[in-house]
Amino acid sequence: MTAPRTRVLFVCLGNICRSPAAEGIFLHLLARHGLTEHFAVDSAGTGSWHVGKRADPRMRAAAERRGIELPSRARQVSRSDLHHYHLILAMDGDNLAALRRLAAGDGASARIAPIMAYSRRPGPVDVPDPYYGGPQGFEQVLDLLEEACEGLLAQLRPNPDTA
Ligand code: 4NP
Repeated sequence: MTAPRTRVLFVCLGNICRSPAAEGIFLHLLARHGLTEHFAVDSAGTGSWHVGKRADPRMRAAAERRGIELPSRARQVSRSDLHHYHLILAMDGDNLAALRRLAAGDGASARIAPIMAYSRRPGPVDVPDPYYGGPQGFEQVLDLLEEACEGLLAQLRPNPDTA
């Protein structure tokens, strides 16, 4: 029997920089480990300004230099996401608070957590918003998210004895 997929949603403000990067990095890791069919992965934004857009070209270019494609189109997070996904990972404290407000009183089943809680290296609790900054900000986002996504996969990967 096929095991059910673990559904993971990455969330930031605009869904054009940080959460598409997290989605692309996690998908890349899954492919490298042959685990793609065990997961369903997406990203979304708490805001709606960029709905329908591809990831920011600066973020895409920085990710491509590391061999990582960012396939996402921006969309806004919805209440139904809080029931559909097993795990919803916020990029920063503002995103986390917005998700918790959306979930309040809704009986949502998703576990909502900060992405950086999964990093195994000491570092910031937030993934800084790179949108208004320079190129170094995009590299920092990728560095932080690569660490966090590796920690995330180490926690979520299916047990080979039961898969
Ligand atoms: P993101 O970055 O939340 O990582 O996608 C941002 C993108 C756009 C804006 C803010 C943050 N904005 O204000 O348009």
